[in-house]
Amino acid sequence: MFLYVANWKMNFPFNKAVHFGKYNYDGFLRIHNLPQKKIILCTEFTQLKSLCDIFEKTYIDIGAQDCSSFTSGSYTGQVSAESLQNIGCNYCIVGHSEKREYDCETNEEVALKVARVLEVEITPILCVGEKKEQHAAAKVQDVLKEQLEPVFKIIKEMEMIRPRICIAYEPVWSIGTGVVPPKEYIEAVFKFIIDLCKKNAPNVEILLLYGGSIDESTAAFIKSVRHLNGFLIGGASLDFQKFEKIVKL
Ligand code: PGA
Repeated sequence: MFLYVANWKMNFPFNKAVHFGKYNYDGFLRIHNLPQKKIILCTEFTQLKSLCDIFEKTYIDIGAQDCSSFTSGSYTGQVSAESLQNIGCNYCIVGHSEKREYDCETNEEVALKVARVLEVEITPILCVGEKKEQHAAAKVQDVLKEQLEPVFKIIKEMEMIRPRICIAYEPVWSIGTGVVPPKEYIEAVFKFIIDLCKKNAPNVEILLLYGGSIDESTAAFIKSVRHLNGFLIGGASLDFQKFEKIVKL
């Protein structure tokens, strides 16, 4: 199964998002029903319930873009993983570079969010990746280790039997820039992540996604990356025709 995760970010206000879902309902179903393809739409909090309702009778999944690192309590403005589960979300993006950057999310907070999400049987889409200057300094492995180690630690403490985690490798310098790394570079990063997971979290089922400037032209060659299980798509997911072309490749 190949995952196509649409990350709409904050690009659609509520009315537009609902319209987009309804207007393209048949189209989404058509591409979702292609063999071995799975569509996941990640929307703003306010739109989640409506999108869950629109796609209720389908296997298209709806995901959130974040959740609280706390279970419940006095955390004004936050949204719990349990609420996401209650309204029908099956996935939740965690640790997106924009959350890390603009909301100063730490690796430890991200790990707590992964735990909250797994507790309610939502699959986390954990985003990792190096910034431009870290890339220039060839620090990708150090960065990934720092980002993943707190997650391994918390998963070990949870003693779950076989949790499933999507790890989305998104080089920050590739997000929204049109610049994508060479295939060999992504393969080397994936190998590093796989080895790290084997060593530190052998019980976890890992699905590897790539994200960063995926469009009709870049998707074709990135799709042949070894061990790739899916794409996390930002900009190109806002235009149904572009999204469809990527899914059909
Ligand atoms: P992009 O965004 O496809 O627009 O580069 C990807 C992401 O931020 O998840």
